[in-house]
Amino acid sequence: MPMNQCVILGTGSYAPPRVVTNEELAKTIDTSPEWIYTRSGIRERHLTSPGENTSDMAVHAARAALADAKLTPADIDLLVVATLTPDLPMPAVACQVQHKLGVPTHAACFDLNAACSGFIYALDTASAMIQSGRYKHALVIGAEKLSAIVDWSDRATCVLFGDGSGAVVLSRTTKPGFGIVGTKLGAYGDSTDLLCIPKGGSSCPATAASIAAGDHFLKMKGKEVFKLAVRAMDEAARDILEQHHVKADQIALVIPHQANVRIIEAVSQYLELPMDRFYVNLDRYGNTSSASVPIALDEARRGGRIKHGDLILLVAFGAGLTYGSALIRWN
Ligand code: ACO
Repeated sequence: MPMNQCVILGTGSYAPPRVVTNEELAKTIDTSPEWIYTRSGIRERHLTSPGENTSDMAVHAARAALADAKLTPADIDLLVVATLTPDLPMPAVACQVQHKLGVPTHAACFDLNAACSGFIYALDTASAMIQSGRYKHALVIGAEKLSAIVDWSDRATCVLFGDGSGAVVLSRTTKPGFGIVGTKLGAYGDSTDLLCIPKGGSSCPATAASIAAGDHFLKMKGKEVFKLAVRAMDEAARDILEQHHVKADQIALVIPHQANVRIIEAVSQYLELPMDRFYVNLDRYGNTSSASVPIALDEARRGGRIKHGDLILLVAFGAGLTYGSALIRWN
């Protein structure tokens, strides 16, 4: 059976209206706006207000992507949400999003957790399902309410994260040469302890003691994550370029995971590709994990940074430590 080509027909994103600046954080946390900006590149982040959840943010981004693709929820037969902060441990937040959006009950709906690489993992999965010929139109969403899992008394982590969502609509196309050219995924499973939530899973369900100790919050060994992140991003980018016989300077725009501008600068040096070919918006969002790449992709496209025929590289790393890259010829 001939393989179908898969294209991104539409993009969308959403950030909660509440903006919290470094200056505001410095009023309640032992930090300074300069420390946060010089160590990470972050100036502000969007945070949800009480009552706003991952599913709500996912729905906003999905609606924008559907409108952009000129499709309706009724057209969708596959819905994947990349997230590490679903509304509930179960069921999958994808099912809540399906219901809120009005996606038909015959659609396949599931969550995928590869932390900050989650969107690229979901893109790979959904595009393969579309290429198989068994699905027509997929919604792939990255949505995170990280404000709910960071320890607001841990200055080494809480200043880095934000909330938000991004989405794409994937569809089959008969136009050869456009769409998802290839993907590369991987993980360093020997480094799970560098970035994790130590308790609250099935191996150690939450207890009063674990909650009192703050063990259901995100813990990170920042310096070690930084080093491995640079290696993982560089390898993920290099591997996919080699695999498809593409030179770095053929890439019109890199959409990297927005964790720390110093990580992006290091990757730019390793690839010998100037920083103006990297889309950076982490100054306004912080790290939104699996939402970071689709938010940046949507902004870049709507801002005129991506044109028909451009070769775009997505690259990310996240807890696990997972990594992933995707090469797209923009349609
Ligand atoms: N304000 C002021 N001082 C602080 C703060 C803060 N918010 N946080 C830490 N410090 C202090 C530390 O206590 C330390 O003090 P000490 O030297 O007296 O012990 C000092 O600042 C320096 O800390 P470093 O760890 O050396 O700072 P570094 O330059 O490594 O930057 C950072 C820290 C920003 C966390 C960096 O290591 C980083 O970005 N790491 C990668 C993070 C990342 O990408 N995470 C990905 C998450 S992806 C996912 O899947 C969720």
